[in-house]
Amino acid sequence: MGKYKINSANDNRVFVVTKSFITLCNMFKTLKNSHGKIIHVVGAPGTGKSANIYAAIEKQELNVYNVKSQIKDVNVNSKKVFNSVYNGFKRDFNVKSKKEVYNCLAGYDAVLFADMFHDSHLVDDDTVGFSVWAGHAGLRATKFYLLCVVEYLKERREYKRINIILQTAWKFHFRGRKYDLFSDMGILSKIVLAVMGTIFDVVVISYKPEETIKIVKIHVDADDKLIKQYIHEYGSKPRFICQAIENEDVVKYGTKSD
Ligand SMILES: Nc1ncnc2c1ncn2[C@@H]1O[C@H](COP(=O)(O)OP(=O)(O)OP(=O)(O)O)[C@@H](O)[C@H]1O
Ligand SMILES: [Mg+2]
Repeated sequence: MGKYKINSANDNRVFVVTKSFITLCNMFKTLKNSHGKIIHVVGAPGTGKSANIYAAIEKQELNVYNVKSQIKDVNVNSKKVFNSVYNGFKRDFNVKSKKEVYNCLAGYDAVLFADMFHDSHLVDDDTVGFSVWAGHAGLRATKFYLLCVVEYLKERREYKRINIILQTAWKFHFRGRKYDLFSDMGILSKIVLAVMGTIFDVVVISYKPEETIKIVKIHVDADDKLIKQYIHEYGSKPRFICQAIENEDVVKYGTKSD
């Protein structure tokens, strides 16, 4: 998984501009001058949410606060996780009150909840990523989201000064494959996205086959025919296609393509 998973801006060595990227850039452009936006960046696992978020932040030169997971124990409850987020803010900004936290957050173009929050365990062994905690907590994690909604409603005026970018996925396993509620469930995904779109700004990262071919080709050495076969098998998800091609090379030649 490591090689074709983007965990930080530094991992984005090569990047192909696509229609989704242009949409995301146009959305991010508005963050310099308006506040109170909550942007969900959704897309199937392995498509390129992280790659696009970091590339668009860089392109629009956004000053972003990257939220880190503060979870140290996978067994803690929702309230503790919720408090750990605010305690992390207080420690980072060296302030004591929530009011000061909101003042500091409002000083950024946006507050980002992406890999350092969801998958922090992949870059820092000492923390548990929110995705791991949520996977472990199951339905009990719902309380965390409720606490966020309550806080938002209580502090609506503060949140109107802050922009939030969320890398959003609702992943689950089915017959050995990973799926995402927002992008892999056909009509159900469309309904969920339509409802979300009435409350938040939503950008879907998805690629046309031609875009996927271009992306895969800058990562691995393969011809269009082979890539199309894998698009048919996996969908337009560069991670799984690159991995499959690399594994094929290992089996065939005993080497990895790079
Ligand atoms: N536009 C692009 N240009 C170049 N590479 C891309 C592009 N989009 C995706 N990729 C590549 O696809 C792979 C998967 O991308 P990424 O890790 O961003 O997916 P993700 O949607 O964030 O996955 P996850 O749901 O697991 O967080 C990476 O190797 C990344 O470099
Ligand atoms: Mg990601």
